[in-house]
Amino acid sequence: MMNTHHTPVLFNESLDLLVTSEAGKYFDGTLGFGGHSGGILQRLNENGILVATEIDTDAFDFSKKKFSDDSRVRLYNFNFSQIDVVAKIESFQFFDGIFADLGVSSFQLDNPLSGFTYRQEAKLDLRMDKTKVVSAADVINSFGEEDLADIIYNYGEEKNSRKIARKIVQRRALGKIETTTDLNKVILEITPHNYQVKTLSRVYQAFRIFVNDELNVLKSFLEKSVGLLKPGGRIVVISYHSLEDRIVKEAFKYETLECICPKEYPICRCDKERRLKILTKKPVLPSEDEISINFRSRSAKLRAAERI
Ligand SMILES: C[S@@+](CC[C@H](N)C(=O)[O-])C[C@H]1O[C@@H](n2cnc3c(N)ncnc32)[C@H](O)[C@@H]1O
Repeated sequence: MMNTHHTPVLFNESLDLLVTSEAGKYFDGTLGFGGHSGGILQRLNENGILVATEIDTDAFDFSKKKFSDDSRVRLYNFNFSQIDVVAKIESFQFFDGIFADLGVSSFQLDNPLSGFTYRQEAKLDLRMDKTKVVSAADVINSFGEEDLADIIYNYGEEKNSRKIARKIVQRRALGKIETTTDLNKVILEITPHNYQVKTLSRVYQAFRIFVNDELNVLKSFLEKSVGLLKPGGRIVVISYHSLEDRIVKEAFKYETLECICPKEYPICRCDKERRLKILTKKPVLPSEDEISINFRSRSAKLRAAERI
């Protein structure tokens, strides 16, 4: 299923796990260009409903047009962490399935105006929600060296974080770092040739996660989602880097536990409820065929669980 803006990843794998009821209510938190949403709709009958959120205005407008003739579709230009608000607006107590395909689309990565690419000259932005005040340039030009190093290390898992942060601070003393070219120069000056692409993507990933508070947003979305799933309903999440995958894995695992009391307690005193059954012991990965057609799928990991 190709699309000029974005090719959906693990398309059949995610839909096979997600859609269990033709007349169900489904939530796609990351509508994007409607690849997965379109697939969900194909599997629903006329009574099914798809509710979707998308934070990026370009993608939202595109998909709004794409699905404008389909009365089963309700779209919100919201953050997916507002799934509970959306459910209230729709007067839905539960969904039959909840889906998220995290990160950014190929369109956002390839289009300098979206502010996510480091491959072309563009303003340093990295905000998913352009109404938010703080951009990557604000952080890079104002945070202290240690804070910058922590962001690069914690969210980019980049070993040379301290060196890069020091260089950023030295460079910005000569003038603001405003564009991708400015930042790339700083990073490339101190990075061996064979690590350049990896380092650039790690540093940009770090600032993107920080600017959008992506990890906390994901945690909040997962927690709310489990409470909004019907018994037998499923949650399916595709992630693209280890920090996100770890959060999904741990959130699902926590929801499989019946008790979280300290080991020394003779009897259980917590009210912990086991809410999920894991459907994917190991994450589902794209096939070699899929990777050869869509290189961006190479880092995808899909995890799915079912509400008890
Ligand atoms: C990988 S793309 C999804 C592509 C989509 N599955 C498709 O097939 O077209 C991720 C999308 O999620 C959006 N997004 C990322 N974080 C979000 C959030 N917290 N809330 C809502 N949308 C988000 C991005 O703007 C992007 O369009």
